[in-house]
Amino acid sequence: MTEIIKIDRYNIDKDKIQYAAGLINRGSVVAFPTETVYGLGANALDSKAVRDIFTAKGRPQDNPLIVHLSDIKDIYDLILDIPDYLGLLADVFWPGPLTIIFRRSKLIPDEITAGLDTVAIRIPSHPVALELIRSSRVPLAAPSANSSGKPSPTLASHVYEDLKGRIPLIIDSGPCDVGLESTVLDLTSGRPVILRPGKITSDDLSPYIGDVTNLSSSDNYSTPRSPGLKYKHYSPDAPMIIVEGDPEKTAEKILALCSQSLEQGKRPGILATNQTYDFYTNTNIPTICLGNRNSPSEIAAVLFDSFRKMNTYGVDIIYAEGLPPDGIGFSVMNRLRRAANNNIIILK
Ligand code: TXA
Ligand code: MG
Repeated sequence: MTEIIKIDRYNIDKDKIQYAAGLINRGSVVAFPTETVYGLGANALDSKAVRDIFTAKGRPQDNPLIVHLSDIKDIYDLILDIPDYLGLLADVFWPGPLTIIFRRSKLIPDEITAGLDTVAIRIPSHPVALELIRSSRVPLAAPSANSSGKPSPTLASHVYEDLKGRIPLIIDSGPCDVGLESTVLDLTSGRPVILRPGKITSDDLSPYIGDVTNLSSSDNYSTPRSPGLKYKHYSPDAPMIIVEGDPEKTAEKILALCSQSLEQGKRPGILATNQTYDFYTNTNIPTICLGNRNSPSEIAAVLFDSFRKMNTYGVDIIYAEGLPPDGIGFSVMNRLRRAANNNIIILK
């Protein structure tokens, strides 16, 4: 049985938090909201509880987990080789959607790091996440609370859909603000590298730590640097094709591709934007409007929900518009490209 309890982030019910923290302290896994996506948390210092996270998600054992803290003071026992600029980075970006990779101390169980000598750590900014970590009085290991291979959950109902019957409790605090997983920044290899782009971009980071490379800009998904990157992720069930170019031409091309699919007896779906939605007039084609193409944070917040909706519509192929890669738009395009397995049509 999976219980769902609602906790209002603006008026946190401490008894409900205590109840969830009690489960964590007894070795259970609990799904909880963060500002990025919902997480599946357990006591990071309890190997058995950490193993249960992998089982609940069906996650490959070689994909390490992020450790979530509520306060920077708790980090120093967990990591080695503390970078000089950690204090500055933490002042600016924590609590928030930034995960940093450090060399790990012996306190971190092997189960968390999948045998690597590094550990990923973040302090989330969601008030319910912070309160849960504080009340548990332990660091929380937490991957995204989806079943492995599905898009990350941005609503409690997504978690329920994937993990019902597999976990005892889901804390529902409504939709996640950011909608994409945290930026993963590796500080262990000399120069800073972003292994997974998120809301916090290389431009946001470089004033504090100098040049920051985006691993994803080389589109090298098979790199062993971040084990999670080699797995297919974020995907709707149907294959996806991205069409990039001027919005009006993009819409024309997508309409032509939809006609082709229909002729082949396939059921297409469209991921559109405010700017193009009116072009798609065929009411038989499921069409989701992601929002304003010039407001990427709006699109980030609904992207994974739109993937899941396409699954419920039972489409055979999805056509998505390419979006301006500015700010978090870069990370939106990273997730879209990965969902599309790099299947992109670029219009001249
Ligand atoms: O926003 C987020 O980061 C969410 C919320 C719940 O905090 N968590 C999340 O966790 O997305 P997960 O497990 O779904 O993704 C963690 C990513 C994976 O790609 C994993 O391979 C990478 O971080 N990672 C974890 N530890 C690592 C390490 N020591 N070295 C390199 N990559 C690591
Ligand atoms: Mg994940």
